Amino acid sequence: MAETPSADKKKLFIKTYGCQMNVYDSERMAEAMDGAGYETTDTPGDADMILLNTCHIREKAAEKVYSELGRMKALKVDKPDLKIGVAGCVAQAEGAEIMRRQPIVDLVVGPQAYHRLPEMEAKTQEGVKALDTDFPEEDKFEKLKRRPKAKRAPSAFLTVQEGCDKFCAFCVVPYTRGAEVSRPVDRVITEAQDLVERGVREITLLGQNVNAYHGTHSGGDMTLAGLIWELDKIDGLERIRFTTSHPNDMMDDLIEAHGTCSKLMPYLHLPVQSGSNKILKRMNRSHDRESYIKLIERIRAARPDLMLSGDFIVGFPEETEQDFQDTLDLIKEVTYGQAYSFKYSTRPGTPAAERPLVDEAEANDRLQRLQALLSTQQKEIQDCMVGREVNVLYEKAGRLDGQMVGKSDYLHAVYVADPKGQIGDIKRVRIVESSTNSLGGVLV
Ligand code: 5AD
Ligand code: SF4
Repeated sequence: MAETPSADKKKLFIKTYGCQMNVYDSERMAEAMDGAGYETTDTPGDADMILLNTCHIREKAAEKVYSELGRMKALKVDKPDLKIGVAGCVAQAEGAEIMRRQPIVDLVVGPQAYHRLPEMEAKTQEGVKALDTDFPEEDKFEKLKRRPKAKRAPSAFLTVQEGCDKFCAFCVVPYTRGAEVSRPVDRVITEAQDLVERGVREITLLGQNVNAYHGTHSGGDMTLAGLIWELDKIDGLERIRFTTSHPNDMMDDLIEAHGTCSKLMPYLHLPVQSGSNKILKRMNRSHDRESYIKLIERIRAARPDLMLSGDFIVGFPEETEQDFQDTLDLIKEVTYGQAYSFKYSTRPGTPAAERPLVDEAEANDRLQRLQALLSTQQKEIQDCMVGREVNVLYEKAGRLDGQMVGKSDYLHAVYVADPKGQIGDIKRVRIVESSTNSLGGVLV
C-alpha cells in the first residue's frame, strides 16, 4: 500500500503519563494511527487528534486528567473538528464517566483495546463517541502492527507481560490492567528481531509483574529466564533488561541467568515497598523482610556486581515510627543504587483505601528522611564507579563538541569525549569523574 504523503496526513499529539509501559503503548498507538493516516506532532495546537495516555498510580490521577481536559476546551473551540481521546489506566478506571464529566472527549480507550483505536477514530469522524474498556480475547499486540523499516533509537522497550494477580493492598494495577497475561514466546522474539533490524541493541522487557512471565512455547510454558535465553541468541542484540519484578517470582533459573547470561545486564529493579514485616503483611506483599534479604543475597551470589533498584512507600496505614525505622534499616543493609519512593496515597477501590491514614506531616517527614538516605546511598554507589571500566551504549550526542552520552551496564548516565562515536556504539570506558546525576569517562 502506498504511504500517504506527509502533507495529506492528519496530526496526532500524544501526551504520555506514568510508567515505561505507557511510553511503549504510546509508540504502538502512534504506529496504529499511522495506518489510519496520522503522523505524530509535538505541538498540541497543530493536532487533529489529541490522546492523553494516562496513569492511575499517582495521587488524584483522575482529577489531574479532568483539569488537563478542561484546559483543552479552548483548543476545541478554535478547531471544532479536533478529536480528543483518553487512553491508559484512568480511561480504564473511569470509563464512560469521563465523557459524562467532560463532553469534549470523543474517545475513551482502555489499555487492552488499543488495537481498536483506528476503528474508534473512524467512528468519531462520523460524530459518534467511542468507548472501549473491554479486556478482549484477541492479542492486541498481534493486531498492533509495527511501522515497517523506521529506524529506532538503540534502546527500546518491549512489553512481554501485562496485568497482575498479586493484589497488593495499595495498588490499582490488578484493576486497571487486569489479570496477568503473557505474550507467546515466538511473538516476542519476532518483535525483538524486528527491533534489532532497525538498529536496537538493548531491549528492556516490560511487564507490571514481568518475572511472572510464562509465555507459551512449543506447546508448553516458558519462564522469563527461558525467554531471556531465546533473546540471547539474536545477533546484534547486545543488552537485555527487564522490569518490574516481584520478589516472590524471582525463580531459580532467573537468578542463575544473572550469573551466566552475559547479555543480561547487572541491574535489577526489585521493589520491597517496606522493611517492616507488620506493614508488608498489611500490604499483602506475600514476602517478608527476611525472605527479601535472603533473596538479594542469592542474586548477589550469582552476580556480585549487581546494581539494585527498589520502590518504597512510606506512611502506609498504621505505619509507626518503628516500622519506618525498619525500612531505613533494610535500606542500609541492602544498599540501593537507584530507588523510587512515594508517600502512600489512597486509591479508591483498593483494600487499603478503607484504612485510617498516617498523619500527613509525619508521612511527609518520613518521606524526606527516606529520600535523604536513598540519595546519599545512591551517590556513594555512583562515586564508587570512579576508576572502574564499564561498557557504555551511546544514546545521543552530549552538550559539548565531540561528546557522546549513553548508559553503562549499571544504567548510570555516562558522558564520554569521543569525536568518532556514533549513536548505538558500545564502547569500553574508564570512569574518571562522578557528578550529581551522571558520570564522566574516557575511552579505554
Ligand atoms: N501510594 C503510593 N505509592 C504507590 N505505588 C503504587 N500504588 C501506590 C499508592 N497507592 C508505588 C509502589 C509501586 C510503584 C510503581 O508505585 O511503590 O511499586
Ligand atoms: Fe501492584 Fe506490583 Fe503489587 Fe502487582 S505486584 S499489585 S503491580 S504493586
